[in-house]
Amino acid sequence: MTIAIERGAQVVLRDKVLADGHDDHRWRSDEELAELDAAPRLRQPLMDFLRDYEIELSNPTPWTRRYAIDTLDGVHIGNCMLYDIDTVNGQCEIGIILGDRDYWSKGYGRAALRLLIAKCFEMPSMKRLYLHTLEWNARARRAFAACGFREARPVRRGGRNFIRMEIARADWQAPR
Ligand SMILES: CC(C)(COP(=O)(O)OP(=O)(O)OC[C@H]1O[C@@H](n2cnc3c(N)ncnc32)[C@H](O)[C@@H]1OP(=O)(O)O)[C@@H](O)C(=O)NCCC(=O)NCCS
Repeated sequence: MTIAIERGAQVVLRDKVLADGHDDHRWRSDEELAELDAAPRLRQPLMDFLRDYEIELSNPTPWTRRYAIDTLDGVHIGNCMLYDIDTVNGQCEIGIILGDRDYWSKGYGRAALRLLIAKCFEMPSMKRLYLHTLEWNARARRAFAACGFREARPVRRGGRNFIRMEIARADWQAPR
């Protein structure tokens, strides 16, 4: 049984389960998705990936959280993550990927992000969320801006140009 962590009008965020492994392997092996995520394309065989995946799921770390994004009727369309959760300085980094292209540019990404932001700001220590997106990823920048992220500064990393975007608790309009 999977448990909804956050439920909105368009998507559900839930904890990752072993059954997500096949989708995650397919998405992480995809050249275009890897490029958009500025990550190397996964080349690990499925069986090895699933073995590591199971170990990772049963050994969560306190500074990272991963959620699956489902449609309201239970289709797994992507993932979102919190990295480097820093409760001392009150910040963490956000990542999101809709692996299923059929759901791009239909508002699912911003719907998921809004739930994720709300989830982050439930942590009383959290003051600011940030992310890095490739400078040329106009769709992502627009979706992030629609959620209240502001462009903070350009960042050059690993030979690529990113934009750091941030949202402060004070800028977040919590859904009523
Ligand atoms: C980035 C991502 C999460 C955004 O989610 P989404 O559901 O596709 O985005 P939304 O529908 O909420 O918003 C997309 C916006 O970009 C616009 N857009 C789409 N393609 C565009 C393009 N080529 N240039 C400019 N704007 C574009 C859409 O019109 C929409 O804006 P509007 O509704 O204000 O008109 C999703 O597309 C995704 O996962 N893509 C692949 C991986 C990726 O890029 N991840 C981000 C890494 S930082």
